[in-house]
Amino acid sequence: MEGAARHGDFWEYRPNVFVVAGGTLARHILVRTGKEFLPPRGVFPLPEHVRRAFTSHTLLPDDLKAARRAFSHNGVSQSTGVLACEAATLAKEWETGRAVEVMPAMRRAMSRMGAQFCYGADASGMTHAELRLAHLRDTAHPRTTYLPPQILTPTRLRLRRGLHDLVRRIDDVIERREGGMAPAAADASDVLSAMIASARQHGTPPGRNIPHILAPLHVAAQEMPTRAAAWMLLCLAEHPGAADRVADEASALPADPGQITATHAARMRFTDAFVRETLRMYPPNWLAERVVTVPVHLAGHQLARGTRVLVSPYLLHRNPRYHRDPSRFRPQRWLERERPGATDAYLPYGAGPRLCPGAALATLELTLVLALTARHLHVSTPHATPYRLTSLGALTPQDLRLVYRRREGNLLC
Ligand code: HEM
Repeated sequence: MEGAARHGDFWEYRPNVFVVAGGTLARHILVRTGKEFLPPRGVFPLPEHVRRAFTSHTLLPDDLKAARRAFSHNGVSQSTGVLACEAATLAKEWETGRAVEVMPAMRRAMSRMGAQFCYGADASGMTHAELRLAHLRDTAHPRTTYLPPQILTPTRLRLRRGLHDLVRRIDDVIERREGGMAPAAADASDVLSAMIASARQHGTPPGRNIPHILAPLHVAAQEMPTRAAAWMLLCLAEHPGAADRVADEASALPADPGQITATHAARMRFTDAFVRETLRMYPPNWLAERVVTVPVHLAGHQLARGTRVLVSPYLLHRNPRYHRDPSRFRPQRWLERERPGATDAYLPYGAGPRLCPGAALATLELTLVLALTARHLHVSTPHATPYRLTSLGALTPQDLRLVYRRREGNLLC
């Protein structure tokens, strides 16, 4: 934050490492990804053909098109009831009356939601493999990302085995569905069914691409939403007035979570603003890195090939030029007129060709978790700072503990 105050929108933080703190410039760099800028490699990068599925609008293999449709706003809306049931189960599971650790239960709940969305009735067999792989990713040393890909470190081998296990399990589900031993794909509304139906229609064996596409998406569907939801519960605890407003909106939802639809979710405007405000103050993906691929002139600087440019949603989201009183948690700001440039300076899901493909799913999941938690529970903090902030990988409230109490007059169904 000091750097932004002292140097403005763009400055050289270390030789050949620049930081971007201006909204328009940040969006420009993210949008130019694939042209002058490239992202660095991930711990296990999304296979190139999977990434292309979400970024290119032409020449997509059909099973990838089906995945993209399933993750679109319309595709996600159809699963509102199923996701709401998982959110209600989470609210029911919190032990009341004592400080409870948030992250492990949240991780399991988000993994279940991702699995329900991806595999429907076959979800229960998939969460264990996903959580094991997610744990390996969480505990992988950052060195793993930067070593040349040819070097097979023990961590990389473990990650590879973990990914292989998840891929194999997805393959098993496909085989069972193809052999008629599992829910008929045609009757189900999960991502896997949509992909199998599309593969069948186009004569591609479903086992060829689908497991490799779905495995990384399933892992991604748990990692960032877990962090975002944990921050959201902390905000519920720290802002009881806003929590009451969310609870009030949620009281209009059907008592049976399975009956909640996308239309109900869309009516909860304050709840939506609460989710947005949480992602503004605590964007789990707080730093995106890009590497310059061809010499480029940017904001008065000549950047050589190989220069690293750091785009920080966290800095943008807390810049008073774009967001009034940025250190204050104030969901209603999203119901008022924004400052000029505020949209450019709000990037929780990134922008451009690498825009998060799970944004619609994550937003719906967070809205439901927030609404159903606030409807049933009062959340409070056990003491002043009940967590350790970690920023390695993603912004995380490590060891967060919260206290839950049932709200009067609200029964969990
Ligand atoms: C609140 C939750 C989430 C947040 C804050 C978030 C944030 C982001 C951001 C900022 C990026 C872009 C990174 C960059 O530009 O370098 C990204 C990429 C990605 N996200 Fe999410 N995400 C969330 C949930 C999800 C979910 C539910 C999925 C499930 C499909 C998902 C799958 C992905 C994938 C596969 C990519 C890589 C896309 C690519 O490489 O082109 N994310 N996410």
